[in-house]
Formats: sequence, C-alpha cells, structure tokens
Amino acid sequence: MNQELLMIQEEALRELETVSNEDELNKLSAAVLGRGGKLTAILRTMGKLSPDERAALGQAANAVKQELSDRIEQRRAELIESADRQRIEREAIDVTAPGVRRAVPMGALNPLTQVYREIRDALIGLGFTTFSGPEVEYDEYNFTLLNLPPNHPARDMQDTFYVNDKVLLRTHTSPCEARALQTIKPPFRLVIPGRCFRVDEPDASHSPIFMQIEGLVVDRNVTLADLKGTIDSFVKAVFGENVQSRLRPSYFPFTEPSAEVDISCAICGGKGCSSCKGTGWMEIMGCGVTNPHEIENCGYDPREWKAFAWGVGVDRVACLKYGISDIRLIYEGDGRFLSQFK
Ligand code: DAH
Repeated sequence: MNQELLMIQEEALRELETVSNEDELNKLSAAVLGRGGKLTAILRTMGKLSPDERAALGQAANAVKQELSDRIEQRRAELIESADRQRIEREAIDVTAPGVRRAVPMGALNPLTQVYREIRDALIGLGFTTFSGPEVEYDEYNFTLLNLPPNHPARDMQDTFYVNDKVLLRTHTSPCEARALQTIKPPFRLVIPGRCFRVDEPDASHSPIFMQIEGLVVDRNVTLADLKGTIDSFVKAVFGENVQSRLRPSYFPFTEPSAEVDISCAICGGKGCSSCKGTGWMEIMGCGVTNPHEIENCGYDPREWKAFAWGVGVDRVACLKYGISDIRLIYEGDGRFLSQFK
C-alpha cells in the first residue's frame, strides 16, 4: 500500500512540473486528490484492513495528500505570477516613445464654394460687398419688378416652381436686384450668391437646383464699358490671366442692351476643340445695362441712376474650370468626387 502511495506521489510531482496553465493544474489535482482521484480510490479500500494497518495507511495517505496539495497550490501561485508577468509585458506602453502622427483626412470645399469665393474675392477687391435674398420669393420680385409683367412671353424662358399664384421658388438671383434697390441707398456694388430653382429634368447639363451669382452696380455714371471691365477682371481671377472674355448681343427684359458673356475656351485656349464645339469660345452668363423700367419700378429716377448687372451660373463655371462633364456630380456630395478638389 505504501509503495502504491509513493508511486502516486512521485508521478503526480513529475506531472506537476509539466503543467503550463491553471486548467491543466486543476485537471491534475482532480485526477489525484478529487472524489474520483487515485488517492481517494486507495482510501476507499481501507475498510478491508485491520485497525492498525488502517491507522498507518490513513496517516501515510494524509501526509501524501497534504504534500501534494501544498505543491499544487505552490505551482498555482507560480503559474498565476508568470501569466501576470507575460500580460504586463504584452501590454507594456513605452510612454517615452515619440508620438505616432496619424493623418486625419481633411475634407475639401465643394467646387461651387471655391468658384464662388474666387469670384467674390475678386469683386471685393473692386469695392463690392455681399448681399442675399430669399429662395422662396414673390412673383413680383422674381418677374414683375424686373420688367417681366404677368403674361410677358419672356416668363416662359424660365420654367418656374410656383408655391401659389403670388409665391414661387426664385428662378434666378435677379430678384435680389429689386430687393437691394429697395433697401440700400445707391450708389452701391453688390455680389449676390444663391440657390435657384427651375423645372428641369436633371441631366449632364441641367439641375433643378443650381447656383447663381448676381452682380449689381448702381451709380450715377456707369456704362457698358464698366460692365465689360468688371466681368473681365473676375473671369481672369477664376480662369487665369490668359483667358479672354467677350460680349455677344442677347436679350433679357431687365437689361438694355443685353449680352451673353463668352470666355475663350478653357480647354483648348481658343483654338477650337470638342468642348467648345470648334468655336474657341464658351458661354458663361448673361448681363447688361439695367433696363430703366427696373430702376423706375424700384423707386429711382433712371435719368439720375444707371446700373449694370449680370447673373452667372456657378456650376457652369466650375464645370468649365475643372473639366467636370456632368453637373450632377457637383450636387450629389460623393466624397470620391469632392476629395479631388483639395
Ligand atoms: N437672370 C438671368 C438668368 O438667370 C441672367 C442675367 C442676365 C442676370 C442679365 C442679370 C442680367 O442681372 O443683367 O438667365
């Protein structure tokens, strides 16, 4: 019996050296000291022994049990300590190491905003200030005061979203001309950006919501030549010094004379290419010397006060400047598109 006890002890101590974690340790402990363990099995046989033998075996078995459980607990403490040490090494942070610089990706301004700011800043340099008006507008401001009375055929040039008989979504920024004339004492020079709306099926060159910048200069002595010089200076600020501008006769009810502004093709430099359909020129906006009727409608004597104005499609300018082939890209807010304008 004693022999057997010693063998159990020796074997358990050998195995104890090889366990590498607490799980294995618990298994070993159960296999030797547990209810179904080897030591317990021996103690169960004690009933068959004489009282003396029983006492001796009991003592010996208890000594082995004590020894083994001491050693197991000792091993447990070692395992816990070494696991802690490994974890601390793994999680160590070197607080003296230089910081890692993680680049935070920067957003980009929409090309509309960039073009607007270029035009605005060029004009501020010429003594302009900014002004704005509502997107939901009275018919009176959008049309009537601008020399487009009800039933005027030129109203058809702009397919309008009506809210009711008198209220609409402005089709251009020109109603701000009338609002400015009614609220600011001339002389003044204004740059007026804003969103406009027209009933248009979206396609590569049309968007039902688009952006314009109106310019309006009111003074006692302004002429078409001032208009031409002003436009040329902001065209050059946006497209560069080498780009030319020209006026081509046109018609708007709110200007007389009226003109379209063309710029020399930003793609081919004026030689003629597919973008400018071989003409070397691209149309970017309408303009003119303000019609005396508009000045009078807004409360001033057109013999004393002259004005000139323009309305430029910012999306069109952005498309030309950056070679964007589809206007919808500008309004869709796709990060892959926008990030190209950093
Ligand atoms: N409002 C016109 C349009 O949207 C553009 C325009 C033309 C504005 C001539 C003006 C102007 O101020 O004088 O088509």
